[in-house]
Amino acid sequence: MLVLYVTFLFVYVYNARCEKVPCPKVLAVNITDGTRSDNSIIKDGVIFDQQNYFVTNNTIFGCICNIIPCIRKCCRSQEIMINRRCAPRNSTLSSLAIYNGTLATNITPYYEHFYLIYSKKCKPRRKMLLRPHLDTSNKFYVQENGTLFLPRYAGKYYKPDEYCVEVFDVQQYEMKDVVSVILCLREDDFVKPGHHRLLCTGMFCMQKRIANKTTHWFKI
Ligand SMILES: *[C@@H]1O[C@H](CO)[C@@H](O)[C@H](O)[C@H]1NC(C)=O
Ligand SMILES: *[C@@H]1O[C@H](CO)[C@@H](O)[C@H](O)[C@H]1NC(C)=O
Ligand SMILES: *[C@@H]1O[C@H](CO)[C@@H](O)[C@H](O)[C@H]1NC(C)=O
Ligand SMILES: *[C@@H]1O[C@H](CO)[C@@H](O)[C@H](O)[C@H]1NC(C)=O
Ligand SMILES: *[C@@H]1O[C@H](CO)[C@@H](O)[C@H](O)[C@H]1NC(C)=O
Ligand SMILES: *[C@@H]1O[C@H](CO)[C@@H](O)[C@H](O)[C@H]1NC(C)=O
Repeated sequence: MLVLYVTFLFVYVYNARCEKVPCPKVLAVNITDGTRSDNSIIKDGVIFDQQNYFVTNNTIFGCICNIIPCIRKCCRSQEIMINRRCAPRNSTLSSLAIYNGTLATNITPYYEHFYLIYSKKCKPRRKMLLRPHLDTSNKFYVQENGTLFLPRYAGKYYKPDEYCVEVFDVQQYEMKDVVSVILCLREDDFVKPGHHRLLCTGMFCMQKRIANKTTHWFKI
């Protein structure tokens, strides 16, 4: 256990030191084969200036979402989430609405407005599946700039690396072709009753389940 903690601490400190990148890696694209021009790199017509790219592992990553509004689709194109996996199925995600606050805009379809990143990674890895059809507090509003607005949640605004949208067919959660969101949780989302709470002793924190209302925790 101690070894685990020490490893965790090391990784944490190490990451904190190295994390001088201009965007999360999950919102970056490989632009290694782009065209160089002065200090910028051009790829597929998008100009990445020095503030919008970084190099790791011999690969140049361009922060596409700093330039074009992005959202993440949890599964690849032509796939939806069936139970806990992405599986081939013609998606009906095209009905995804874009909002200004809680007011629907007439921007449509979403895939022409946003740059799409296919990923459901969360960092930290805790995820929750929203069920807007069963619980009004789960009603979500994708904003024009790719931010997710959740008026009834502690965080309220979630950036594109903190959620992904998808069509869900999940029997266990009574979802049959429902457009919804996998939300990456932050620490402050854990303090609410019925959710998880962080228990800390000295420097170390552990997650502890404090109540029962956790049936919608989604492990992937
Ligand atoms: C990035 O793209 C380059 C050139 O297309 C390729 O050689 C390299 O393997 C890619 N790197 C990653 C991490 O995908
Ligand atoms: C670096 O690239 C190699 C080969 O593509 C890969 O196995 C490794 O996980 C990468 N490391 C990081 C830190 O991304
Ligand atoms: C999607 O729809 C097309 C035509 O509408 C069909 O040919 C294809 O087999 C469908 N794919 C899946 C995975 O259902
Ligand atoms: C959203 O609505 C507000 C007021 O209703 C308006 O001032 C603002 O410009 C709108 N934002 C966008 C991005 O359209
Ligand atoms: C995106 O829009 C939301 C809601 O209008 C706003 O709170 C947020 O700061 C904006 N984010 C960025 C990165 O512009
Ligand atoms: C926890 O859930 C079980 C099964 O869903 C239920 O029987 C039990 O009463 C619940 N306990 C509390 C404290 O709510």
